[in-house]
Amino acid sequence: MTETIDQIEKAHSPGFVDRLRYRSRREFLSTLTLTAGASSLFAQSQTRPPIVYPPQYSDKVMEPVNVREFQEVAKRNLDFKTYNYIAGGSEDEWTLRANVEAYQRVWLRPRVMMDVSTIDTSSELLGHKLEFPILLDPTTKSRIVKDGDRVAAVGAHECGAIYCVSNPLSWIDDLYQAEKAPVWWGSTLGHSTKSSARGWARRNEDAGATALAVTIDHPYSPNRDRVIRYNWTQTNGNTFIWSKYQGGVLSPTRPSLTWQHIDWLRSASDLPLVVKGVLTAEDATLAVENGVQAIIVSNHGGRALDGAVPTLMALPEIVDAVDRRIPVLIDGGIRRGTDILKALALGANAVLIGRAYVWGLAAFGQVGVQRVVEMLRAELVVAMGLAGMPNLASINRNLARLPWE
Ligand SMILES: Cc1cc2nc3c(=O)[nH]c(=O)nc-3n(C[C@H](O)[C@H](O)[C@H](O)COP(=O)(O)O)c2cc1C
Repeated sequence: MTETIDQIEKAHSPGFVDRLRYRSRREFLSTLTLTAGASSLFAQSQTRPPIVYPPQYSDKVMEPVNVREFQEVAKRNLDFKTYNYIAGGSEDEWTLRANVEAYQRVWLRPRVMMDVSTIDTSSELLGHKLEFPILLDPTTKSRIVKDGDRVAAVGAHECGAIYCVSNPLSWIDDLYQAEKAPVWWGSTLGHSTKSSARGWARRNEDAGATALAVTIDHPYSPNRDRVIRYNWTQTNGNTFIWSKYQGGVLSPTRPSLTWQHIDWLRSASDLPLVVKGVLTAEDATLAVENGVQAIIVSNHGGRALDGAVPTLMALPEIVDAVDRRIPVLIDGGIRRGTDILKALALGANAVLIGRAYVWGLAAFGQVGVQRVVEMLRAELVVAMGLAGMPNLASINRNLARLPWE
């Protein structure tokens, strides 16, 4: 680079540019590039696509350069117990760590000479155009940050990400009034009766949900050692409620859930039905047979059954079993654009992020959510460019090398 600059300076001086007029080398260079547009010497650089910058925010928001650094800012902002509630998983946290480590164990086999002058991350999911394949997981944020669910929803709207809502409350209506509602999916841990399932489906459809997602991996409250040890107490809808976690208590969430639940929802709503928490080919096959319209490969971010297979490792068998009949999504451990690229290479249609955007929310509120999504999106674009993948259709299994295959 230095050599080129020096050559250019030499070739055009004296009189072409007076470098002393420019405050910095960067300013000099950008002016030179503009001025040089007319010269045949620069004909080749004219055909170069423009540099694409993600949206910019204040210096403070732009300071963390990756999701892990957002986590550090969030850690400083949050009280110790709440930080550990978010960061932690269940029991020995094998699955929590393995979700992240699985991405470190898969290597990319980049292609070269592929003409990646334009990078297109768009696709289609359940009838909705996705500009980029990153959705936001349900994460009950009002327990973490005041009005967290609503604040993150506005962030999702601003950056154009689909948002899973655990408890749609009156704030969804307010967001529609203010034209700040994101495209959103209703999310539930399931219901114990047909009438409550149907009521929930109708409420969500009426409120504007575009799909209904049932989390099916949480029949009982898991042992979360950090939560038990630090005696974290829950708040609900910003109101403090006392609910002490204890270890080894068989505390039911929705233990009676079966595939019949899908029929219950379908009898009340025409919205696409999604299940979150599939980890095996057997259950993926059953999901398709029971008329589910999309699967999320998930282990609840390592917060449910400890020892459950990391999601990236589970993905290939599920993709094979589903055989393109319905979209397969994945979450758990995604912290980088290259992680997303690996998941797409192994057959995911899109990914969801959980903690990544919760760190953004806890660090800087709404713009923190936006910045994390936009940062991951930008990282994905760069990764696709470097891997020789101009669009999502070009990404396939040959891009990934698996250590366990
Ligand atoms: C603080 C927190 C709360 C969560 N609450 C829910 C929930 O209410 N329902 C649900 O299906 N998943 C919940 N999850 C799991 C996420 O939806 C998602 O599966 C997980 O966070 C993905 O892993 P990642 O955090 O490594 O991205 C929660 C996760 C976190 C971190």
